[in-house]
Amino acid sequence: MGHDPNLTINTARLMERINSLAQVGAIDGGGVNRLALSDEDRRGRDLVVSYMKCLGLKVSVDQIGNVVGLRDGREHGPAVFTGSHIDSVKTGGRYDGALGVLAGLEVVETLNDAGIRTKYPLAVAFFTNEEGARFAPDMMGSMVHQGHLPLEEMLEIIGIDGTSVRENLERIGYAGDIPCATTKARAYVELHIEQGPVLEHDNITIGAVEGVQGISWTEVEITGTSNHAGTTPMPLRQDAGYTAACVVRSVRKLAEDFGGDQVATVGYMELTPNVVNVIAGQCRLIVDLRNSNAERLRMAEKRLIRVLNRLRNRENIAIAHRSLARYEPVSFSASILEGVERHARTMGYSVRRLPSGAGHDAQAFAGNCPTGMIFIPSVRGISHNVDEHTHVDDIEAGANVLLRLLLELADN
Ligand code: HGY
Ligand code: MN
Ligand code: MN
Repeated sequence: MGHDPNLTINTARLMERINSLAQVGAIDGGGVNRLALSDEDRRGRDLVVSYMKCLGLKVSVDQIGNVVGLRDGREHGPAVFTGSHIDSVKTGGRYDGALGVLAGLEVVETLNDAGIRTKYPLAVAFFTNEEGARFAPDMMGSMVHQGHLPLEEMLEIIGIDGTSVRENLERIGYAGDIPCATTKARAYVELHIEQGPVLEHDNITIGAVEGVQGISWTEVEITGTSNHAGTTPMPLRQDAGYTAACVVRSVRKLAEDFGGDQVATVGYMELTPNVVNVIAGQCRLIVDLRNSNAERLRMAEKRLIRVLNRLRNRENIAIAHRSLARYEPVSFSASILEGVERHARTMGYSVRRLPSGAGHDAQAFAGNCPTGMIFIPSVRGISHNVDEHTHVDDIEAGANVLLRLLLELADN
């Protein structure tokens, strides 16, 4: 069905919504703190649901708290999905996740204004707990939605503050009763900031995303003996703080030795009792390993366990570990990849292919339906940081490519 070839989104309207959502959970420096299922997340959810209702979408909340706004097509059946997440890390930026959800709503409003009714339904969704910063694993809601994680087990997950996913969904009023994926996806396309330096470095506007690297989160519990920092002879110390430092150093050395796509860090560490003159008796840390090569990621995980076993013996200290998140690398659909490139070029935007270093809700859909992502540049490659920024022109470009691709998918 032919549409106005010059149809474009309303950039000012989209920016207004991005900036309004950024006021929810706003923190100094222009960023946001909307940890999953927090009161800030609830307020953000409520605001986006109000947008969905204003746009005439049928809003449903499923059993893991995912929210789907459905726009009817001329025909019934599986919908073309877009969306992302509105939860953030503690020191997040205003575009990570929010851009994909609000750009999806801007596409809906542009179609409403143009009086366009697509052949197939369109769905704009935000998924619960994409970040995994409070409840591991990340991409929890989308992975349950697409059948990769068990609902009941995820509802019982306990967060870093000792409360469960289930009780927090109930507390914020988003414990839905709709089974996940009641509306099936015939395709999924997500617009997201790159969160890395590649597009800006190459001076490219649109990223056609090839896939997402594999992710492995391992929780490590080190239990030594709290003791006096002054009186305890060095050979008698069971120092959980020192052992943790050895783990962190070994994780960095792993990435250096593996080279290539291997990345590794320890971003979360809790020392107990965390007192200047007490040898730390306990340390809980989480190791984040990623690689686009499945076999190399497995090798990295095995090396980490060898390091922990060696430290346990050498330091005469208890070390327990368990996996908190584990996702294989995924490739996105060639048809969507090609569509992103084609629409970008038709609209005169520069475009290049690239992999995603960050995890995204899109990876839950890959393999279940034609799936892909559109990236736009992050200024200085910064993200998961209040300084996260993307230029309005790039936001406009990304949302316009999303509009054209969704229209094509929903009409053919
Ligand atoms: O961890 C990730 O890559 C994503 O931001 N959840
Ligand atoms: Mn994100
Ligand atoms: Mn993120």
